[in-house]
Amino acid sequence: MTSPAPVRIPATLIPGDGIGPEIVDATLAILEALEAPFDWETHVAGLAGVTQHGDPLPAATLASIRKTRLALKGPLETPSGGGYRSSNVRLREEFQLYANLRPVRTLVPGGRYEGVDLVVVRENVEGLYMGYEHFIQIGDDPHAVAIATGVNTRNGSNRLLEFAFEHAIATGRKKVTIVHKANIMKALTGIFLEAAQQLYEKKYKDKIAMDTVIIDACCMKLVLDPSKFDVLVTTNLFGDILSDLVAGLVGGLGMAPGANIGTDAAIFEAVHGSAPDIAGKGIANPTALLLAAALMLDHVKLGDKATRLRAAIDAVLNIDKVRTGDLGGKNNTKEYTQALVARIRNA
Ligand code: NAI
Repeated sequence: MTSPAPVRIPATLIPGDGIGPEIVDATLAILEALEAPFDWETHVAGLAGVTQHGDPLPAATLASIRKTRLALKGPLETPSGGGYRSSNVRLREEFQLYANLRPVRTLVPGGRYEGVDLVVVRENVEGLYMGYEHFIQIGDDPHAVAIATGVNTRNGSNRLLEFAFEHAIATGRKKVTIVHKANIMKALTGIFLEAAQQLYEKKYKDKIAMDTVIIDACCMKLVLDPSKFDVLVTTNLFGDILSDLVAGLVGGLGMAPGANIGTDAAIFEAVHGSAPDIAGKGIANPTALLLAAALMLDHVKLGDKATRLRAAIDAVLNIDKVRTGDLGGKNNTKEYTQALVARIRNA
């Protein structure tokens, strides 16, 4: 008797800008070796969206994600200062992807720290990222004054905090640390701290430990001894900065995946950007996007394939010792990809 054909899963694929297409190609080859049952709809955004359709977030891309509710995304370029608003931020707003889950783990021993295993859970749609900002002209200086308004709500804080506590408990974590700056931004980040303390008292105090720390002290403590932390939960801008910091604890941005999870959709990506300095050279490390693909496999309940993918990465980095330059290795993206495909096929 033949076994039934596996259920196919429609998903949107955004190759992205800079190194995006290179690491997405590597990821697709490895997902194919894993026989991951995704049916990809490929669409553009970011700079590729502007170049091809005159729009950093074309309607067809949005329509595809609205339909599939699932996307794997390469990094998207955003101009600094002027220019178009970030397509990443717009995607998170459009699909209310309110929880940004960014796990980091030591994959290559022998770095500055051993055994790092942290998760940053970042509020993803509120705070200072809302882009409520403007300049005020004084005399002939149009940029004499800059003003930004952040918005955090009790509802927005609560839904993110609830997600973070539930995720921490479900994954066997021991402690949740609330990261804030409520000593200075008493309203903007005070509301997040207050919501955390109230929710913890009401629902989670018998299930997991919680402590609180101010963002600046948190950065210092993380660099001194990351083992003091487990799950870090924070507001949008602090979460963005902290996730790059913790990526640095495990070998850099090439190792840090991210999941943007909401009520309407989930989008998986690397924490890093389009790395224009190495784009087109074939040397980018695709591990961050591969680990994002593993989070995506977990999300669609294909945890066995996610486990195989993580095991292959571990074996290629530590047994085969095939590593890209950012990890001190001599291999390029293609050689690393081939080693992973071989590991998966021969497992
Ligand atoms: P970046 O993350 O692209 O690069 C920072 C440094 O890390 C560079 O030296 C780069 O070569 C290196 N790097 C990053 N990923 C790597 C990888 N996979 N393998 C090896 N080395 C890697 O940050 P940058 O240069 O500040 O930003 C470039 C562009 O990316 C900007 O337009 C920014 O807005 C955008 N960006 C997009 C994000 C997204 O789509 N989620 C996230 C962060 C930035």
